[in-house]
Order: sequence, then C-alpha cells, then structure tokens
Amino acid sequence: MSKNLKDLYINFFLSKEHKKLESASVIPENDPTCLFNTAGMQPLIPYLMGEVHPLGTRLTNYQKCFRLTDLDSVGDKTHHTFFEMLGNWSLGDYFKKESITWSFEFLTKVLNIPVEKLAVTVFKGNDVVPADNESAEIWMSLGIPKERISFLGEEDNWWGAGETGPCGSDTEIFYFRSDEEAPLKHDPEDERWVEIWNNVFMQYDRQADGSIISLSKKNVDTGMGVERVTAILENVDDNYKTSIWKDIIEKIEEISNKSYENEDDAKCMRIIADHIRAIVIISADDANIVPSNTDQGYILRRLIRRMIRYAKKLEIDVNSDFDLEIAKMIISKYEKYYPEVERNKTRILEVLETEKNKFSKTLEKGLKEFVKITEILKKQNINSINGKTAFRLYDTFGFPIELTVELASEQNMNVDVNGFNTCYKEHQDKSRAGSSQKFKGGMADHSEMNVKYHTTTHLLHQALKDVLGPDVNQKGSNITPERLRFDFSYPTKMTDEQKKKVEDIVNQKISEELDVICEEMSVEQAKEQGAVGLFTNKYGDIVKVYSIGNYSKEICGGPHVNNTKELGTFKIKKEEAVGAGVRRIKATIEI
Ligand code: ALA
Repeated sequence: MSKNLKDLYINFFLSKEHKKLESASVIPENDPTCLFNTAGMQPLIPYLMGEVHPLGTRLTNYQKCFRLTDLDSVGDKTHHTFFEMLGNWSLGDYFKKESITWSFEFLTKVLNIPVEKLAVTVFKGNDVVPADNESAEIWMSLGIPKERISFLGEEDNWWGAGETGPCGSDTEIFYFRSDEEAPLKHDPEDERWVEIWNNVFMQYDRQADGSIISLSKKNVDTGMGVERVTAILENVDDNYKTSIWKDIIEKIEEISNKSYENEDDAKCMRIIADHIRAIVIISADDANIVPSNTDQGYILRRLIRRMIRYAKKLEIDVNSDFDLEIAKMIISKYEKYYPEVERNKTRILEVLETEKNKFSKTLEKGLKEFVKITEILKKQNINSINGKTAFRLYDTFGFPIELTVELASEQNMNVDVNGFNTCYKEHQDKSRAGSSQKFKGGMADHSEMNVKYHTTTHLLHQALKDVLGPDVNQKGSNITPERLRFDFSYPTKMTDEQKKKVEDIVNQKISEELDVICEEMSVEQAKEQGAVGLFTNKYGDIVKVYSIGNYSKEICGGPHVNNTKELGTFKIKKEEAVGAGVRRIKATIEI
C-alpha cells in the first residue's frame, strides 16, 4: 500500500463532510470505571447520550485504544494490547443508509476490495427490537447478494460499550481471507471470513435493570481496526508481517540473532514489539502515566517487565539499549499521527530505561529463585505456589503476580492468587489498593460525587493560580467518587503554608454559596472573558464555559453542581511530583 490506511480513511470521511477529531488520550478522562479507552466511541459517550459536540454531528478519527483483556493473547498473529481504531460517527445526523453506503464505497472504491470478497451480518431481532431488514435491503441495493447476508442474534449483532449506556444493533462487514474463491453463501462459522468493520446503530440507552429506552437521537458509531485491515490490504495472514511491524520484527531478529520463521521465537518477538509500542503510547500520553503499583502505572510496569522477560527468552542482552532502539523506531512511526509522542520523546525513553534498570537487576535472581521454588514443590508433588511465596517474588524481586502466574503455567503449576492478594493487602497502604474492578471497562461516571468533585476541581485550579501564580495549568484530572486528583504544572514542592492557603480559598468559595453557571459562546469570546482553557484547535467554534460566581471561569463540557453549597469541606490529602515540572494533588470533600 502506498498510502496509509489511516490517511485514506480520514480523507474519505472528510469528503463526506465529517470533521476530524483528534484522538483522545488513551486514558479516559474523568472515568474511574475504566483504565483505558477500548473503543473509538468511548470518549464520545456524553455526545452519543445527547450532549452537543462542538465539532458538529459528523465526526471521524483514529483513536488510541488499549485492551488489557487481550494481553495474554498477544504472541499470536493477530492480537495487540494497544491498537488504533478508525471510526466515523453520526450524532443524530445520518443513519443506516448513508453509513452502509459509505462503508461500501470506502471498501470497494477506495481500498479496491472486490465485492466478491465481502459478506455482512445484520441483527435478526428479539422480543424488543425487530429484525434489521432495512440494513439488509440497503446492502442488497449496493450489490451484496442475499446469500452473503446473515441475520444473527444479540451475541453477534448488538453492541454497547458497557453494561449500561448507549447501544444498538449493528451490521458487521466480513472479508474472505483465503486464496480460494469465497463460497457463494456466507457461513458465520467459517473462520476465513474475518470481521473488518462494525457499524453500530446506536439508538438505545441500556438501563441498570437491563431494559432499553430510546436515546433522544439516532446515532451511528463505527469501528475498524487498523492492524487487521492493513494485513488484508497487504495480503498477509499475520499482522506482524504488515508494513506496520515488518521493520520492527526485522530489527528484533537482528538484535537477537534469531529468526521469525521459528514460531516459538516469533511469539517472543511479537510480544516484545507489541509491548514496546504500547509502552511508547502510554508513556507519551499527556495523562503522565509512570510505572507504579496501581492502575495504569501498574499496567505500564507489567508491560515493561513482561517485555524484558521475553527479550531474555530470546537471549537478548537486556542491559543493552535494544529496547530504546526499538522504541525510537516506533516513535518515528507514530509521532506524525500523535503530537504527544513527538513532544514527549525524552520522557518515553526515560521511563523505559529507568524501569528496565530497576527490574533487570533483580530479574535474574528472581528467575533463579523461581526455579528453586518450583523444583522443591515438584519433588513434594505440590503443583501450586502459595500466596506468601508469590508475594515474596513480588516484594523482593519485583515479579508482578501475572508474571508468576505465567511462569507457573509454563511449568503446569497454579498460583494461589487469592492468597497473594491477601498478603498484598496487608502490606499495601489501603488507599492505593483495590483497583481490579477498574479493569473491566465501563462508562463515564456522572454520579453525584463525581459531579461534586468536578466542580471542586475548577475551584482548586483557580486557587492554585491565585496562590502559586498564573502559570499554573492543568495537566491532567482524574475523579473517582472518593477523591479528586489534579495534575498541574509547577516546578517545586508546595509548602505547607501554600497548601493551607489553597485549602482555605477553596473552602471560602464553597461557603460563599456561589452559583455555577454554564454559557455557550465562541472560543474568541471565551478567551476575551479570560476563561481558562487550552485554546488549541481541540475546540470547535462554540464552547461551553462554566463560571463559579465571579471566581472561576473554564471551558468545560460539564456536568457541574448548581451551587458550591452542595460541596463539602475541601481537604488536600497529598501533594507530590509526577514528572518533571508536574505536581499532583489528591484531595477530598467531606460532607
Ligand atoms: N464501537 C464499536 C466497536 O468497537 C464500533 O466495535
């Protein structure tokens, strides 16, 4: 392919009057229920639910996605942790006819995929929603024969991002990946039919009790995986043989002096390649994720440690700069598409190097210890590693529990993960533990507490500017029902006096019972009025500006409380560094 699939896709939808949306952070903002974005639609949930999007009703982008659930499958030819999803959206604008027609046009006219290679599935209906004959008719009118249209149930042709929220029936497009001629009839069980695009007709909102109600608008949400479609276009059955990965794999072959032709070695190479790409993207993100023992930081740590282990398996000298060399290749591939990769180059390499140095020193010792442990257990015919031992491997040798589980399974042994968790909890500061439920993925949380913390965050932002100076700017925000977390630019540690001052100001504003008012205006007007915002091209022409009395004014999508009297007593719990020139405050409001 001479032209990149991402460019072709975006240009096609621009020609259909869509606006290009920048990829959102791979870390969902203000959504504590979910560690990473797993689909292009996730950052758009509020707009699918009815909020007005500043860029209009037709959007397209490539979104940085990360699926933790696929981590253990990485190593085969088709799985990735980080991947890019192409998407186009109608927010109450076009619906089935245009969506299907454009998908067909893009595939057959732009990508030149022969129609003989395509099949589709549509929703067969259930007690509540009728069969999607409309989509089937549209497909037929475009030239997809009846035999190539399968009507399937909810397991296949219904899509929603989580247990609740926007959802709807979908039509999926399949490509026949084989040198043989595609059979006339589509057989959903035949694995040579590979799904390439999903068009979801989001017109419902699933409630907590499982029922669905109609959304105020009928939306379209589509998703196409860049890696998979590139493999199809380049006619290979292994994503890692596409132009996306080829040179990276060749580099790993060169460094390790091993061949991708050997399947065991190929598996290690794919894991190394995939993980370094994910490490680059996560550590480049403006959310400032660094390796740690919780949340996204923990995943980053796991990826780095796992990557090193597989490099060792390939007998790569892990103390060399092999990983930095590969990371640099990845950076040069992605910086054109993601400005933060360009901007944060140095940080990416620092994160990788620091964490690697930390781990590689103890890894060798830990692996020896692991062999010793398993030999002893095997002699005693015990095939399970208890929680205490797993915790010792974690605590002394930095083995993430998943690494111990993985190493054990290679020896046909189990690990008492519950026992490990008990030990872990005993040793862990309570506030830092317990994030496992976040791995499941979910919806933006607009619970009452979250809304309160959101408004408090605006007060805090202004108070920091008052106390530390106007150059203080927001670098990140994360809210859970228990606390707010706010990252901001400031070079040094705050003094106790400064913290106290900030607390006092925020509490003063809360006690003044200030009204919170939302106005829509042009970006220019917002700027003139001194509203805080990024003023990058991220905004559309019209923005929402939230004012808290005369005290704070910020461009923001909301939602917020109506009056500061709804908030409790503000308290800073922690102030720490999260990177060069960036500080982090964790704070609570107690009612
Ligand atoms: N959101 C849909 C998906 O991820 C398009 O498949």
